[in-house]
Amino acid sequence: MSRWLVTGASGMLAAELLGLLRARGESVIALTRDDLDLRDGRAVRDVVAGHGPDVVVNCAAWTAVDDAETHEREALAVNGHGVRALAEACKHVGALMIQPSTDYVFDGTAVEPYPEDAPTCPVNAYGRTKLAGERAVLETLPETGYVLRTAWLYGAAGGNFVSTIAGLERTRPALDVVDDQLGQPTWAGDLATRIVELVGITPEPGVYHATCSGQASWYELAREIFTLLGADPERIRPVSSTEFPRPAPRPAYSVLGHDRWTTAGLPPMRDWREALRSSKVLISG
Ligand SMILES: NC(=O)c1ccc[n+]([C@@H]2O[C@H](COP(=O)([O-])OP(=O)(O)OC[C@H]3O[C@@H](n4cnc5c(N)ncnc54)[C@H](OP(=O)(O)O)[C@@H]3O)[C@@H](O)[C@H]2O)c1
Repeated sequence: MSRWLVTGASGMLAAELLGLLRARGESVIALTRDDLDLRDGRAVRDVVAGHGPDVVVNCAAWTAVDDAETHEREALAVNGHGVRALAEACKHVGALMIQPSTDYVFDGTAVEPYPEDAPTCPVNAYGRTKLAGERAVLETLPETGYVLRTAWLYGAAGGNFVSTIAGLERTRPALDVVDDQLGQPTWAGDLATRIVELVGITPEPGVYHATCSGQASWYELAREIFTLLGADPERIRPVSSTEFPRPAPRPAYSVLGHDRWTTAGLPPMRDWREALRSSKVLISG
């Protein structure tokens, strides 16, 4: 049994991971931002050394994608420098580190799924800061660092597209949803499970793509949410993303390939529709 330390403990992924670890009877130290602010390098070193974990999962991050455009330095302090401090603390105590990252490290110009070793080229500030975090982990922990790129995450805790659309279904007769961005909706519960599976087998370190299989546009995802709620999916209308300009550009195509799981001895994560159906997020939301 491992001793786990989870940062960003009040976040969406952390909620699923902590639930899973506690259900398994694992030894878990859960640290919220109040307990450990990643921007405080000395605290990061001292707190990690004080707990002496075997595994550190960094669920802490600046995740406000649009705000990062005007606050890149602040986002980098968490997603880049903070991650480096945590990686160095892990190195000091010999802990394995899991660093969630994002599909937004890619520019979205591909026409087939991005393999794990595809060149990165973020198109927004959030992506640049997350890429800095990836590099910090890979450089500091070449033997014990794992970068798990995920995308379009939803879960029972925290705001996300799935809960937003479910809420709008109750109040709006019709919804316009963009159909020209493709990605992989991923249940945070499945990502949590994958993290536990990965730690169980500790495959080659490095970058893995931890998204559900298949692909969807936001429009298709919204239709699926309506269908699962028993609502008429025809109430969702497809529109171009130019009709919803946002501060941070998004990659048009950020479907990730999963080949490295096979080498690691794990199947790719399940199809996004199956995950959405069994996530119970729509029931609890
Ligand atoms: N959500 C997505 O669609 C998505 C997509 C791709 C990748 N990811 C990645 O997946 C991971 C988990 O995302 P999530 O959606 O679970 O995020 P989340 O719900 O926004 O949670 C992030 C947590 O980090 C904490 N935090 C922020 N700044 C901090 C700091 N300086 N020190 C310590 N903690 C800090 C926040 O604390 P407060 O609660 O106090 O604010 C929050 O609890 C992140 O690495 C994210 O980049 C997410």
